[in-house]
Amino acid sequence: DLNGKIRVAVLTVSDRAAAPNSDPTYDKSGPAIRELFIDYPAFSCVDHAIVSDEALAIQEAVKRWVIRRGKDEIDWIVTTGGTGFGIRDRTPEAITPLLSRPAPGLVHLLISSSLKHTQMAALSRPVAGTISQASITLDSDSGHETLIVTLPGSVKAVRENLAALLDSGVVVHAVDL
Ligand code: MTE
Repeated sequence: DLNGKIRVAVLTVSDRAAAPNSDPTYDKSGPAIRELFIDYPAFSCVDHAIVSDEALAIQEAVKRWVIRRGKDEIDWIVTTGGTGFGIRDRTPEAITPLLSRPAPGLVHLLISSSLKHTQMAALSRPVAGTISQASITLDSDSGHETLIVTLPGSVKAVRENLAALLDSGVVVHAVDL
């Protein structure tokens, strides 16, 4: 960790935000996540990126963060977007094969808390779990695991989902373990 802080990297998954000449203000949920973390001093957002709704692009960005070592290590990857049933929504399919240990309890927390806000939460297909550095680098000496949670694409949804995760304290406990 970074002076005891949990290091977070934020990935926006959006074709439009990732398009070559896209308006840099198009991505609203990525900046919203980073802003929310300002109120949670146990966390520090140390990196962020934007990729298109392509499985390989999503996986490449995630792996790049998972293999970081030492002071640059990432403890928690938060993605936003691509969790629904839109034709291009494929974040869950991209992340699932990378998981070393799926965390269905975190998925349950996200969906059950979101359903209190909107029945549309039933249309999100979040995945959560840990990705082991060893599974990516093939270095069996590495015991490092990065937590990953996929959030929906709207600012409203990321606010509600992050509040559920952060106010419950489960993420701090998960990373500690
Ligand atoms: N979850 C919460 N907490 N609040 C929301 O407003 N919106 C839903 C759902 N989950 C929502 C939510 C909607 S409308 C959709 S389509 C899905 O998330 C998927 O969003 P995504 O495809 O942008 O990832």
